[in-house]
Amino acid sequence: MRGSSSTPSSSDGTTRSWIIAGAAVAAATAAYAVVSRRRPARFRSRVVGIIPARFASSRFPGKPLVPILGKPMIQRTWERAKLANKLDQLVVATDDKKIAACCSDFGANVIMTSETCRNGTERCTEALQKLTKKFDIVVNIQGDEPLMEPEIIDGVVMALQAAPDAVFSTAVTSLKPEDTSDPNRVKCVVDNHGYAIYFSRGLIPYNKSGKVNPHFPYLLHLGIQSYDTKFLKIYPELPPTPLQLEEDLEQLKVLENGYKMKVIKVDHEAHGVDTPQDVEKMERFMRERNLS
Ligand SMILES: *[C@@H]1O[C@H](CO)[C@@H](O)[C@H](O)[C@H]1NC(C)=O
Ligand SMILES: *[C@@H]1O[C@H](CO)[C@@H](O)[C@H](O)[C@H]1NC(C)=O
Repeated sequence: MRGSSSTPSSSDGTTRSWIIAGAAVAAATAAYAVVSRRRPARFRSRVVGIIPARFASSRFPGKPLVPILGKPMIQRTWERAKLANKLDQLVVATDDKKIAACCSDFGANVIMTSETCRNGTERCTEALQKLTKKFDIVVNIQGDEPLMEPEIIDGVVMALQAAPDAVFSTAVTSLKPEDTSDPNRVKCVVDNHGYAIYFSRGLIPYNKSGKVNPHFPYLLHLGIQSYDTKFLKIYPELPPTPLQLEEDLEQLKVLENGYKMKVIKVDHEAHGVDTPQDVEKMERFMRERNLS
């Protein structure tokens, strides 16, 4: 939310401006703490994790309930996320009675959301409105990445708490050489201060030689994101933008509207489950590493 701080986003890439921007950020954080007396002193301290889970999926109906080594995927996601230290509350947001029943059985908090939610972000927004407590940050935890480390969840939260000029935070990891030409693997480039410059389905940056540079540390975007809740209110309302539509990447809308997004780099073996075949792959991976 731009309104939450008056930090000038001066970042022309020089060391001097970096230091100035850093000082401004610290000042803005301090000012915010003074102004909002009734809030806890720590900036954006109240955090909720939401796992959006819908039953209908064109590629994989009932995906959240698929057993992975005998345990429903949504339960695995929940149990992992529960280990994060930065979440004050964790909920599953779903439109489906079977998913809700399954989650209640293993002890999860469930919020029913409408079937008309068009994507996970809308589901998070609706769930947030139905929560009785107020939160400063929402972490959108993808239900189809059951091996997401709790440290990464904490990492995106801390990144957003430490960057008052950002409204959004997310994570990237090293892109594997075999994934450089896969348009389903989204690449990212960041500036010197760890803010996102651009996301693409194509390989970025593009080497002058026209070939993949084996020495360049290409970044793969991971599906975890956290938002300032004030921003989440306007995010779905922002009209689609040209680059977002061209790449079919929702997060570009944030950047195209001039908002800042903080990106953390993490070690993570990305194993999203998009199709029934991915389940076997994940089970094989887990057996190899003795994960149960
Ligand atoms: C492109 O990649 C090659 C290695 O494949 C590297 O030597 C070179 O510095 C990169 N950049 C340019 C501009 O060629
Ligand atoms: C979700 O869907 C709505 C409606 O199609 C759209 O406006 C919005 O940009 C989508 N994505 C997010 C992140 O809100």
